[in-house]
Amino acid sequence: MDLGPTTLAGLGGSRWHVRPLRHHGAVRGALTLRKPAGEPLKADEERLLGDLVAQTGLVIAHEAQRAELQSAARRIVTAQDAARRRVERDLHDGAQQRLVTLGLELGMLAQHAEAAGDAELASRVKGARSQLLEATSELRELARGLHPSVLSQAGLPEALGTLADRSPVPVRLDVDLNCRPPAEVEATAYFLVSEALTNATRHAGASLVTVALAHVESGLRVEVSDDGKGGARLGDGSGLQGLADRLSALGASLELDSPRGGGTRLRTVVPCA
Ligand SMILES: Nc1ncnc2c1ncn2[C@@H]1O[C@H](COP(=O)(O)OP(=O)(O)O)[C@@H](O)[C@H]1O
Ligand SMILES: [Mg+2]
Repeated sequence: MDLGPTTLAGLGGSRWHVRPLRHHGAVRGALTLRKPAGEPLKADEERLLGDLVAQTGLVIAHEAQRAELQSAARRIVTAQDAARRRVERDLHDGAQQRLVTLGLELGMLAQHAEAAGDAELASRVKGARSQLLEATSELRELARGLHPSVLSQAGLPEALGTLADRSPVPVRLDVDLNCRPPAEVEATAYFLVSEALTNATRHAGASLVTVALAHVESGLRVEVSDDGKGGARLGDGSGLQGLADRLSALGASLELDSPRGGGTRLRTVVPCA
């Protein structure tokens, strides 16, 4: 195949003047100029075509770089999620199980001490056991923050249900999914809802939060609205900015609508196959 400037005979006696567009040595497309047969390219037309080829080449190069950056960011998010899931599983199957067994053992010890009439020992063992239970529940919270096991095991509707159940502000859930989204999309939707519920509780003084998820043509639409005081701003804290970064790695953007006195609405559509 000839990759240099080419002139082709076309229909109706016209001529196509073709200039290949290259990126990293590979031909990515071509610019063509059609002229009547027998009319050669004038010098300024040649120059114009040359300039267009150069500029279009730059646009192609930028687009290729943007796509490379995007997929690198996506790979980072996916790898981070996988690492968090692994640590969560290790904590769950390892430390948490051992602490639960230890708790049972301390409970039995306290009973023995009581039966033996050693009230002081019994009360000290009970004290140690209740500290152990607190530490276990702190560890469980930490693991859940890393990656909730209910999400990987049961999917988004169940995981969002547990978020709603734990939320101090009442939540109306409207989840309408006809298939399971990819893991990184699920995790992103989960973290968005989790952050929005925390914000509604911590900053908004809201009395109701509405969470709506649905598949639309371009992906998974996630929308969370509260009826609180509004005035949220990206970049004033780390939560919303972190979400915006995560979404942009997946080719989505975070829409924030939060007029003062008018509640807060977060919305995005995460592309997914
Ligand atoms: N739902 C909300 N209602 C009112 N204000 C909010 C809401 N969400 C966030 N904000 C405000 O926007 C800031 C940025 O939010 P965020 O990035 O989540 O940071 P933070 O870590 O403080 O929660 C918050 O500090 C808060 O002042
Ligand atoms: Mg926050």
